[in-house]
Amino acid sequence: MGRKAFMFLVLGLIGISSKTVAQNLVNGKKIYETRCLVCHQADGGGVPNMNAPLDGSTNVVGNDISRMVKIIKKGYNERVALDGSYYSNAMTPNPDLTDAAIADVLSYIRNSWSNKASMVTIAQVKKQVVKK
Ligand code: HEC
Repeated sequence: MGRKAFMFLVLGLIGISSKTVAQNLVNGKKIYETRCLVCHQADGGGVPNMNAPLDGSTNVVGNDISRMVKIIKKGYNERVALDGSYYSNAMTPNPDLTDAAIADVLSYIRNSWSNKASMVTIAQVKKQVVKK
């Protein structure tokens, strides 16, 4: 393969992968708007003392992806301090979301508002095996 053709191939592949990232985030936003926004709000700020904020949360941009996968699948009502605050509401479970949908919504909340963290892959979601 000529050098020029090789460069086109590389640029093409970069183009494809960045388009996929954008599509994942668009899909994640849709899921967020239909399932999460009602509690966590459009700005990710949550509701003080009631619904935890996702914007600026150290857990949301942290490395414990398994914990968040479990929270999304099973819901969450642990009443442990999250960044020093407690939230009285109970998060509802989402047992019907596919692994791909969970990866997209997690990628979205990790890369929205002031959050900037790595995208979440389907393989990372699959690592979290939740007991029925
Ligand atoms: C019925 C309201 C409600 C809905 C709907 C909801 N959540 Fe939550 N979420 C909460 C509450 C309340 C907490 C904190 C619970 C606690 O502290 O016991 C929480 C906690 C979390 C956390 C942990 C935050 C941290 O700092 O550790 C994540 C991540 C999360 N939610 C993501 C989502 C996603 C993604 C969706 C949509 C698929 C969603 N939530 C839908 C109410 C909700």
